[in-house]
Amino acid sequence: MEKLLVKGKKKLSGTIQISGSKNATLPILAASILNEKKIEIKGVPIVKDVITMFHLLKHMGSNIKFNFRKKKIFINNKNKKLRHVAPYAFVKTMRAGIIVLGSLLTKFGKAKVSLPGGCAIGTRPVDIHLYGLKKLGANIKIKNGYILAEAKNGLKGAKIRFPSISVGATENVIIAASLAKGTTYLKNCACEPEIKNLTDFLRKMGVKINWLNQREVKIVGNRKMKPVSHKVMFDRIEAGTFIIAGALASRSLKIAGIDTKTLNTELKILKKMGVKMKISKNEIRVLESKNIKPITIRTQPYPGFPTDLQAQTMVLMTMAKGISKIRENIFENRFMHVPELNRMGGKIKTRGNLSLIFGPQDLNGAEVMATDLRASVSLVLAGLVAKNKTVINRVYHLDRGYEQLEKKLKKCKANISRVYS
Ligand code: EPZ
Repeated sequence: MEKLLVKGKKKLSGTIQISGSKNATLPILAASILNEKKIEIKGVPIVKDVITMFHLLKHMGSNIKFNFRKKKIFINNKNKKLRHVAPYAFVKTMRAGIIVLGSLLTKFGKAKVSLPGGCAIGTRPVDIHLYGLKKLGANIKIKNGYILAEAKNGLKGAKIRFPSISVGATENVIIAASLAKGTTYLKNCACEPEIKNLTDFLRKMGVKINWLNQREVKIVGNRKMKPVSHKVMFDRIEAGTFIIAGALASRSLKIAGIDTKTLNTELKILKKMGVKMKISKNEIRVLESKNIKPITIRTQPYPGFPTDLQAQTMVLMTMAKGISKIRENIFENRFMHVPELNRMGGKIKTRGNLSLIFGPQDLNGAEVMATDLRASVSLVLAGLVAKNKTVINRVYHLDRGYEQLEKKLKKCKANISRVYS
């Protein structure tokens, strides 16, 4: 089992180059199924979930190549007949595999995709995905843990209003509508920047797609695809994670390769907490922030405060002079980092979807357990600021979504290493 060892209280300084977004890359790879012309995807993060999606597409018969050194993926499915099945073996480890459902269905008129099942942070149902695909004319059955979807005469454009906001469902239905006959209007969409990156990609491939307002998008299906080259956007959650690392433990830490206008909400909250930052268009310099203030945050769909940054912000709240509150409104079980942070000396009380963080607390290194992707990185952040040594178990969670985390931190003078036991 791999572990991370972090020796705290080292002052960080230097530059962290942010990688491409995992959550933009996954739907873009799924959408590659639509197009038999040449596809080049640049700025791809080398993280486990992306590698799993790569293997899933390869398993389906996609002619896909991943150049790790150049961080590029090349796909050329000319005259390739892909299998329309996404097996449990892939989807169980990477739930986002469900995102190929819309592609397979609209391209081949049928799809057999494993139900993703839940994960540590919640039951993760897919009812909204299926609701939208049915509105486009899909016939859907659930059998032996698989979604069996069919559209013998192809999907047809429709007017759909999502019952609630879902990132994955919005992506799945937008992709499905891209080859549907006629025009689709989607309302109450999620509008995360990663979804905009997906619609940019689809537009370059020849899909007529326009955002009519913040949560409404119009798609005119078009089966004539074009070759495409596309750069994946930066990972805004990785950027937020390292800004918080800078606030916790840096003299001066530069976060580079970002587009700060995508981080408005997060930066507003961090400024209110007293994080000192010099913000320019494509980079942020985080300065030593001694006087962290308590705050109340509620996680919301974009442009609200992102649930994927909740665990990391909680660590910063342990430094604040006073009581901070977090209301987790997106997932039903996303406080599993709390018992681990309390073992490190945090004073955090959780009831339902509310956590109270009593600060300031000096954290002490301890042996802790990662439970999910963002909880695991919050334990690394806590280790950076804690006295003594922290040992983080089950780092495979971290490797799903952070590219070379310890290498990036080590380069900025953190005392962090990976051990194999
Ligand atoms: C995406 O997950 C992200 N994953 C998550 O990031 C992120 O936390 C989440 O969006 C919210 O921003 C990827 O993009 C690969 P949702 P997704 O559908 O699409 C409920 C990370 O750490 N829901 O917006 O699964 C659901 O249970 C990951 O990188 C239904 O009820 O999120 C949740 O409570 C974690 N029915 C809420 O909606 C559905 O059919 C939002 O989920 C779908 C979702």
